[in-house]
Amino acid sequence: MRFGVIGCGSYGSVHAELIASLGPRARLVAVADAVPERAAALAARLGCAASPDAAALCDRPDVDAVTVSVPHGLHAETVVAALEAGKHVLVEKPLEIDLAAADRIIAAERRTGRVVGVMSQRRFEPAALAARARVSGGELGRLTGGAAHTVAWRGQDYYDATPWRGSAKVEGGGALITLGVHALDLLIWLLGRPVEAQAQSGCLAHERIEVEDTLVGSVRFASGAIAGVTATTAACPGLPTRVAVYGDRGSVEIPVDPDERAAVRAQYRDFTAAVTDGRPPLVGTAAGRRVLATVLALYESARTGRTVPVPEEDPWT
Ligand SMILES: NC(=O)c1ccc[n+]([C@@H]2O[C@H](COP(=O)([O-])OP(=O)(O)OC[C@H]3O[C@@H](n4cnc5c(N)ncnc54)[C@H](O)[C@@H]3O)[C@@H](O)[C@H]2O)c1
Repeated sequence: MRFGVIGCGSYGSVHAELIASLGPRARLVAVADAVPERAAALAARLGCAASPDAAALCDRPDVDAVTVSVPHGLHAETVVAALEAGKHVLVEKPLEIDLAAADRIIAAERRTGRVVGVMSQRRFEPAALAARARVSGGELGRLTGGAAHTVAWRGQDYYDATPWRGSAKVEGGGALITLGVHALDLLIWLLGRPVEAQAQSGCLAHERIEVEDTLVGSVRFASGAIAGVTATTAACPGLPTRVAVYGDRGSVEIPVDPDERAAVRAQYRDFTAAVTDGRPPLVGTAAGRRVLATVLALYESARTGRTVPVPEEDPWT
C-alpha cells in the first residue's frame, strides 16, 4: 500500500518513519504539511516526495492511503477531503472534537466506501489483546467495574510551544481528549457500551490554557459496570497509565507496553489488511465516535455538575 502522511509535526513524523519501516507491504510516497519546510525536511530525511499541501498530496494517483496527523479540530475537513479524493484514511485520535464533525467523517466514509481507521494503538499491545480475550471468553464473570487512569506531567512549555494545544476550539479539551482517550478507549473496548458519565475537572498546574489539565470522573456501562477515569497532565513526574477491568470471578490489569512503536506498527498491519481483505479495521469510526461521545459527556458533567447520558447508540451501527 502506498501511503501519504498529512501533518509532519511531532507525531506525523513518527507515522512517516514507521510507514517507511513497515517492509514490502507498505511504502511512504509523499508527505505534506501546512508549513511546507516541515514537509520538505521530513521528505529529505526519509527519501519520499514533499507535496505543497494536503490537497496536492490527495491529488496524487500513486497514493492509496493517507495518514492524517493534524490538530484535532482539523481532522474532519482533512479526512473528508482525502476520502473524496478516493483515499483510504488512518486518522489520529481523537476522531474529532464534536459529534457533528465526527459524523461528517462517517458520512463521507459511507459515501465513498473507503476504509477509515482511527489510531488507538494500545489495543494492539499483547497484554490488551489477552485481556480482551479473557473478558470476551467470560473468564472474569460478571463485569463490575474498571479503571482508566492516565497520570502524566507536561510542563508549561508543552502548551506554550504548540499554540493549538490548550485551545478549546482546536484541541477541543485537554488531558482527557488528548492523553486519557487512549486508556478510555481500551476501557470501553473491554467493558462495552458506556451509558452515563460524571466528572469534575480543573486547570490546576498550567496557565494561559482554555482546557482542563486534570479530570476525575466515572462512567457507568450498559452492563451495570462502573469505572473510574482520571486524566491529568499536572502530576509530576507522571505515573504509568493504569487500565483495569474487574469482574465477580476475576480481574485484570493491563501493564503499559514500553515498546509503543510495535503497537503502532501492529495497527498499520491491521489497517492495510482491512483494506486488502475488504473488512472493517479493528478500530474504526464507530469506536472513535463512541470514545469521543464518552469524553464529551465527561466534559459536560464537569461543566454542569450533573450526570450526563452518553448518547444511546451511534446512528451508524
Ligand atoms: N497516537 C498517539 O500516541 C499520538 C501521540 C501524539 C499525538 N497524536 C495525535 O497526532 C495528531 C497531531 O499531533 P502532533 O503532536 O503531531 O501535533 P503537531 O502540532 O506537532 O503537528 C501537527 C502538524 O500538522 C500541521 N498542519 C496543521 N494544519 C494542517 C493542514 N490543514 N494540512 C497539513 N498540515 C497541517 C502543522 O503544521 C503541524 O506540523 C493529533 O491528533 C494528536 O492527538 C497521537
